[in-house]
Amino acid sequence: MTRLLKILILFVCVQMSAQQGGMWIPSLLEGMNEKEMKSLGMKMTAKDIYDVNNSSLKDAVPQFNGGCTAEVISPKGLLLTNHHCGFDAIQNHSTVEHDYLQDGFWAYNMQDELPNPDMVVMFIVRIEDVTTKVLEGTQALTSEADKQKKIQENITSLSNSLPKESWQENKIRTFYEGNQYMLFVTETYKDIRLVGAPPSSIGKFGSDTDNWVWPRHTGDFSLFRIYADKNNKPAAYSKDNVPYTPKHFLPISLDGIKEDDFTLVFGYPGRTTEYLPAVAVEQIVNELNPAKIEVRDAALKVEDGFMRKDQSIKIQYASKYAGIANYWKKWIGETQGLKKSNAVALKKKDEAEFTKRVEKAAKKAEYGNLLTEFETNYKEIAPYGLARDYFQEIALRNTELTSVAFRMYQLEQVYTTKGEQAFNARKQNMIDQLVDFYKDFNKTVDEKVFEQLIAIYSKKYPAQFLPASLKNVNATALASEVYSQTKLTSLDGLKSLLNGDAKTVITNLNNDKAFKVTKEMAESYFNSVAPKYDEINLKISALQRTYVKAQLELFKDKRLFPDANSTLRVTYGKVKGYDPKDATIYTPVTYLDGVMEKYVPGDYEFDVPQKLIDLYNEKDYGQYGENGKMPVCFIGTNHTTGGNSGSPAIDAKGNLIGLNFDRVWEGTMSDIHYDPSICRNIMVDARYVLFIIDKFANAQNLMGELKLVHPKRK
Ligand code: ARG
Ligand code: ASP
Repeated sequence: MTRLLKILILFVCVQMSAQQGGMWIPSLLEGMNEKEMKSLGMKMTAKDIYDVNNSSLKDAVPQFNGGCTAEVISPKGLLLTNHHCGFDAIQNHSTVEHDYLQDGFWAYNMQDELPNPDMVVMFIVRIEDVTTKVLEGTQALTSEADKQKKIQENITSLSNSLPKESWQENKIRTFYEGNQYMLFVTETYKDIRLVGAPPSSIGKFGSDTDNWVWPRHTGDFSLFRIYADKNNKPAAYSKDNVPYTPKHFLPISLDGIKEDDFTLVFGYPGRTTEYLPAVAVEQIVNELNPAKIEVRDAALKVEDGFMRKDQSIKIQYASKYAGIANYWKKWIGETQGLKKSNAVALKKKDEAEFTKRVEKAAKKAEYGNLLTEFETNYKEIAPYGLARDYFQEIALRNTELTSVAFRMYQLEQVYTTKGEQAFNARKQNMIDQLVDFYKDFNKTVDEKVFEQLIAIYSKKYPAQFLPASLKNVNATALASEVYSQTKLTSLDGLKSLLNGDAKTVITNLNNDKAFKVTKEMAESYFNSVAPKYDEINLKISALQRTYVKAQLELFKDKRLFPDANSTLRVTYGKVKGYDPKDATIYTPVTYLDGVMEKYVPGDYEFDVPQKLIDLYNEKDYGQYGENGKMPVCFIGTNHTTGGNSGSPAIDAKGNLIGLNFDRVWEGTMSDIHYDPSICRNIMVDARYVLFIIDKFANAQNLMGELKLVHPKRK
């Protein structure tokens, strides 16, 4: 190929992929995206994806338990989601004797499916634009706080008054930072049972070492089933409930994928911040991410040390550890990616262009001060933001004892603000909620975590806010004092501390050492940090709303998508490899051969079950293999984020081809700065899922429910 031709091809590729990215509102695809989607190879219409009057793909894609996505894959309400999304449930059903995390779990008939109290699955019935109604009566208000208050009032009254069925809910969410409001009518099912999960050596293969990394070989899936009452409506768990009959379920393609195939990922991305000014990104890269990484780094080292030595601690802490490790690693990748892609410099360039367009459009009065005001406010918020992150990461997120003590602190607040009756109700509620917490709490582990984190707090929490008693603290001495004296390290201790009338309880709490330390941290935060943080943050949100409005007006040539907000979105692209660094090219598909290459017998991250080794040796892949190889994972240019886990990857015709579960290391900054050349989402190949259900688990009861199709055959 001539050099010129190469450059030309590269240019065309960049142009084409540059149009991609974005998380789009399913009800607006027709005007916004359908044309582009078809040009990428889609054979469906926008109505096949979202339709109010007929069943469509959206009816097969519920939000799974608040934080993930799932898809219905059978007429009997069988749900597919990630192993890491079902992880808590799988862990909860596990003991050292029946360790479903280690050995996997399969219900070979419906009676064996395991109920999960509190687990929910939410479907979207319809989506409507309600911007005018939500903003009614706010235009005349000049104070930002009043405006927000009025908006909240409108949202509450609209949620109550807009039409819906008795079992449904109205949810109103903001898009484009307060420039648009959408109503979601939802249905939430509450009887969700565990049906199947591969052993962690498949479902979590590669664990934290491979997390956020390509090439990947994880069979990250698990199966649940939705149960409904006799009328197919949501109902609390009952043994009389029946499998849910969906409005739509996804057929599964046996034809697989190849590079450049169209892909669509449908799900509930949680949160992105793509329209931040450069100064905000700078703060994330230089201050906030490093602080959070440091705290979690310390907590993880402690937990890992104990988990490697003790199997019961490993079960107790598996889910918690994975949760902490996940974003710890993501923030590291994100920080690197933002630096490497020069996100701050690029944002500054965009801002220069923004300023030019503001001038040209004669909008200086409206938008001319935005960027300098961002500068001022971000500078002012810096120490408060840092203190907030340290407080949250140390006291609330990663030290378990202080997180419980903090709840006791909130209980005390309930008493002071609402009185004895509210106090008693909350108290009982808390005891009930904490039963599970103590099941997985280990005092020795947590004491070490506390020791490490309180040392960081003492050194790094901005000095002007630091409580006097925690200055220059001897962390080891304090940890041993706290953990030997507090009653909060066991459920019985907690109950005894909460025994008696409110006054007695409050006195006892205030004599408890863990309570005292936590209360000092909390009061420092709530008295010296939060009020100012909230005040500046409110200003920043108002600026951000105007900034997004301005971009929508001035950059009509760029199609702007609304930041993720945990609502249902469509993202699309192609199966595609990438070029992460000098002299390295990643192809888009991995195979079972790669699992065997990574295999380390007995290792907690890279062990492989004997049955899988046997199937590999016999090349017994049935109809799921491809040219004698078993595909495992693939990547694509779909723009996804946390919450998209478990999202279906769908082919050009609406069939399931994979299951989204992660992103590649170089592209983890996509929440802040999406770069189409290196941002890729990672999916498990649907054929690998089928292979594990059929050949590995021999769950023919489940295979019989599925609809397997050959969309590529003529
Ligand atoms: N990184 C993926 C996501 O953000 C997968 C997480 C699974 N957890 C883990 N620690 N391996 O959810
Ligand atoms: N693993 C993520 C999730 O759980 C997906 C991602 O962040 O790419 O939603």
